[in-house]
Amino acid sequence: MLDPQSLKVNRLASALGAEIHAVNLASIDAEGATTITDLLCEHKVLFFPNQSLSVNEHVAFGAHFGELQGHPHKENPYTKHDKIFELAASSGGIADEWHSDITFRPRPALISILNMVKCPEIGGDTLWTNPELAFEELSAPLRDLCSGLTALHNAAPHGRPEVMTVHPVVRIHPVTGKRALFVNEHFTRRIVELSHEESDHLLGYLTRWIATPRFSLRYRWQAGTIAMWDNRCTQHKVLNDFNEERIIQRVTVMGDEPKGGDPRWEPFIRPGHASDTSRYDELLVQYFESIESKDLS
Ligand SMILES: [Fe+2]
Repeated sequence: MLDPQSLKVNRLASALGAEIHAVNLASIDAEGATTITDLLCEHKVLFFPNQSLSVNEHVAFGAHFGELQGHPHKENPYTKHDKIFELAASSGGIADEWHSDITFRPRPALISILNMVKCPEIGGDTLWTNPELAFEELSAPLRDLCSGLTALHNAAPHGRPEVMTVHPVVRIHPVTGKRALFVNEHFTRRIVELSHEESDHLLGYLTRWIATPRFSLRYRWQAGTIAMWDNRCTQHKVLNDFNEERIIQRVTVMGDEPKGGDPRWEPFIRPGHASDTSRYDELLVQYFESIESKDLS
């Protein structure tokens, strides 16, 4: 039983994030999970220090929030459990570009729950940002343009560029109704309705804008801390500034299909003969051919 009155909630930044004390996640029931879901909606990323959950406790905690999935492309170095994604790094090999998790899938991760098993004494902080604030603070014409666009995401950072999907550039959160920018530096390759050159400029601008420091939070880890974030309304990245071993384990709650406005324009693919610049449209052509062949089968 989790009494919401007994929880200690410390906000960490203006934009998002809270540390939660006086709770034992290993003994949470369904009602307690509802209280945590409410806190997550309010703060977007939650930190629970001093938990030190076992693998089974971690998975059981995650299962309160929906169906869990292991990572689709990566092998665990130490812990064999089909619902745990484990990453051990001493330098490099971490996601040091802004992203939300698994956006190359039609149903990207909804909630990610991370156990910091071992962290470096210096470095290896994680940053989160609030792409709802980033959307709100755009000018009205740019908000309007972005709301009518879609973007192609793929798993190129995992060596699987052929795994791709298209999502709205502005996503509406199904619980709060708030709109967030839903393109990211790590997995988003191209805005579908713009030319390659236009897409590069707009994507470059939006991904830099999302990373504005006042929309963000930087978290210094302690081993045993559990972090939990809503991928529908946050992005994150790890600072690649450490040399000691850093081991994380994560469970991922599978999400719904991102909903936003329908695209207001046709996909931009240069008509006619192949040219030097038409190679930039190849990924779009491949994507639309792949969904066409799925429709026929
Ligand atoms: Fe991530």
